[in-house]
Amino acid sequence: MPTLIVVGTQWGDEGKGKIVDVLTESAHYVVRFQGGNNAGHTLVINNKKYILHLIPSGIFHPHTICLIGNGVVVDPEVLIQEIEKLKNEIDLSPAKLKISYLAHAIMPYHRALDIARESKAKGNRIGTTGRGIGPCYEDKVGRRGFRLVDLTKPEFFKEKLKNVLEEKNFLLRYLGAEPLDFQSIYEKYLEYGEYLKPYLSDISEILWKAYNEGKNILFEGAQGTFLDIDFGTYPYVTSSNTVAGNACTGAGFGPSKISEVLGIVKAYTTRVGEGPFPTEQNNDIGLYLREKGGEYGSTTGRPRRCGWLDLVMVKRAIRLNGITSLAITKLDVLSGLDKIKLCIGYRIGSKTLETFPESLEDLKSVEPIYEELPGWKEDLSKISTYEELPKETKVYLKVIEEYLEVPIVLISTGPDRRNCIFIKEKRFF
Ligand code: IMP
Repeated sequence: MPTLIVVGTQWGDEGKGKIVDVLTESAHYVVRFQGGNNAGHTLVINNKKYILHLIPSGIFHPHTICLIGNGVVVDPEVLIQEIEKLKNEIDLSPAKLKISYLAHAIMPYHRALDIARESKAKGNRIGTTGRGIGPCYEDKVGRRGFRLVDLTKPEFFKEKLKNVLEEKNFLLRYLGAEPLDFQSIYEKYLEYGEYLKPYLSDISEILWKAYNEGKNILFEGAQGTFLDIDFGTYPYVTSSNTVAGNACTGAGFGPSKISEVLGIVKAYTTRVGEGPFPTEQNNDIGLYLREKGGEYGSTTGRPRRCGWLDLVMVKRAIRLNGITSLAITKLDVLSGLDKIKLCIGYRIGSKTLETFPESLEDLKSVEPIYEELPGWKEDLSKISTYEELPKETKVYLKVIEEYLEVPIVLISTGPDRRNCIFIKEKRFF
């Protein structure tokens, strides 16, 4: 009865969606446990591109049941649009997609506050996705939030919304934004509640039963380790815990029942939004990676900042998440570079650091120490076995594996489901 958590080891956009889609071939359940529609998971199936923001990436497999856990913040409008857009192509009935009663709803004032705060912050922006993620988590912790189930209780919803909105409108005015109208939010969100009601379920109970029936369960992380609210590069982070430990809290599942944690590592590093990025390449290399890798945000379309793979970061991610295997993605993007660099340490003044600094100030001032390796020219997307890989690609993988001391079990060599090579026997399920 294997249970697998899949997490990003960098700043998100590691290609988790594609790997989850591939592994879901043998999973009975796929569960999202944190984040919201700040995530954008891109999948290419039979040359058609799909971008999912809330629905778990396992949805394209007919046998897989997709669950949205209590730790996710759900924008009902976005979820309903996503369901409506896809429902003629795939089964999106409540038998296939189930959402926790306890998940919090992103309300219009969350989006408005997110945008208003960012525009007022000017030089101190976080660079959020503007989807209301932070304000929604704030309200959850502040006990002012609405769980999805609350949208199905008209009287309760009405009273609480009146109180909450009064405060939000005060804040919005202070931030220079327009206040919002109670009646239209109330009516719209009651409608959303009605629409989503058949999907609302006790996810924890479903998982407990599935586990006891020996089903394969995959927990799909969103964002990446360095966007974690505690362990990321605070304050340039998202507002949830993105590390593997939160799969348990965010879905209502006991830690003693987790079998494996798979870390997804992009073959280079990217970051969207503000914050320090030691191996960033503000030069032709960065541009090459961005254009070849299509490094534009799938949620906001923003160009991603690009740089070399930082193994010091990934090593910390391995420790924070208890990662037992690795998948290296977008290896094909590196084809064509003469030299490839890997960051294996940092220097601060005359001091050498082998671990990732916890202080943001230290991180801002580190200088990466690189190991330089020869590049390769071959188009990896045409290759389907490990043996056929160019010898330079094998060296690149070997150096990564030796430094990280965790086995690389699969590599991704292109956007399609088919561009995936298992390099160890292990298949998780
Ligand atoms: P928020 O999650 O919208 O509050 O944004 C906070 C930070 O996390 C910003 O730097 C975003 O660009 C970043 N972020 C949030 N979601 C993702 C993601 O799915 N991929 C990459 N960066 C993300």
